[in-house]
Amino acid sequence: MIKKFNKYLSYRNNSLYLDETSFESIKKKYSTPLYCYSLSEIHNNFVELKKSFKKIKPMICYAVKANNHNQILSLLSKSGCGADVVSKGELKKSIDNGITPDKIVFSGVGKTKDEIKYALNKKIKQLNVESEEELEEIVEIAKVEKKKENICIRVNPDVDPRTHHKISTGRSEDKFGIPNSRVIKLFEKYKNNDYLKIVGLSIHIGSQIKNMRPFEIAFKKIKKQIISLRELGFEITVLDLGGGIGIRYLENDRIINIKEYCLLVEKLFSNMKLEIIIEPGRSLVGSSGILLSSVIRKKSGEKKDFIIIDAGMNNLIRPAMYNAKHEILPVKRKNLKKKKYDFVGPICESADIFSKQNISQALKKDDLIAICSVGAYGACMSSNYNLRGDIKEIFIKKNEIIDE
Ligand code: LLP
Repeated sequence: MIKKFNKYLSYRNNSLYLDETSFESIKKKYSTPLYCYSLSEIHNNFVELKKSFKKIKPMICYAVKANNHNQILSLLSKSGCGADVVSKGELKKSIDNGITPDKIVFSGVGKTKDEIKYALNKKIKQLNVESEEELEEIVEIAKVEKKKENICIRVNPDVDPRTHHKISTGRSEDKFGIPNSRVIKLFEKYKNNDYLKIVGLSIHIGSQIKNMRPFEIAFKKIKKQIISLRELGFEITVLDLGGGIGIRYLENDRIINIKEYCLLVEKLFSNMKLEIIIEPGRSLVGSSGILLSSVIRKKSGEKKDFIIIDAGMNNLIRPAMYNAKHEILPVKRKNLKKKKYDFVGPICESADIFSKQNISQALKKDDLIAICSVGAYGACMSSNYNLRGDIKEIFIKKNEIIDE
């Protein structure tokens, strides 16, 4: 069952291991809460994705926002992966970890003048532009810097990705992208511009998408748009399909089959003479991470029992922010009676809940638990709220622990 969350997670003699390392041995060296990642899982996710494309070789640009740790960027860079960045910080860190600028795309609605200037001078692959106003500013900056920049116009296709509303980006009411209806006008306006070249379109409709249908609808819309633009004589060479592939958080979650996703992309675009880019974040790193936490104490309430753990919403905000549910496993599996608990953190907010009415083996003070699938949008979204301190991250490679 646990292989469903992470291929390198297993019980051996009823003790939970990540790759060849037991969490009990980790706890002897480190204090909790602690993020632990399996490097093999990340590598495996990348290789599986790459292998699933049969007809085309898309440029895989890892969405750095999912987890920007040096270990992850350097592993993916060595595997040949590019980067999708949304800030100067992410751009700089990607380059510092060996990702060459010709494999870096820069997305985001709020690129500042300083960020645009920095990107132009680094000669990155392209800027994915989200408004007409942004295009105007890029021209101004490129004039001064004496540069000509490649641009993809991010289209807002008005498609509901059927995910949590806070991570939906492709509906017309969302702040992202430019409506389909305004795209042709932009191509006309910037035709033969000295400072920028619109080379194609980009799209990203949302995150944690668990069903193929929204992808299919959005991709068909963008294909139609490309055909119309070409009929008008515009040259379209690049198509960036964004990220969004969902992962399994609970055992029975039904998720997208990666091979099916790749098949759809190839069916729609393999004979379109396009350079395809994809920007996966969560699907590359999400499954790799475990948040190791200790039970501080059990508390019996009037109506229910609470397990108070030393990880809080400051370490993992996803349950509080998106109602996300992450599987919780005991590190030491025992044949004890099952109990119903609310797993809560120590933060002074009622939103600091990891799991409500979770059926778990009976737990007691100092027991270790593992919160699964926290590799994406976990540590990078953590804070020092309540002054609980910054959380440590370690990486596991077989029986080796890397903690820098
Ligand atoms: N490309 C763009 C332009 C994006 O905005 C995002 C994510 C991605 C790619 C990567 O998407 P992924 O493959 O990871 O779904 N904090 C939220 C998720 C926010 C996603 C933001 N954009 C969460 O914890 O669920």
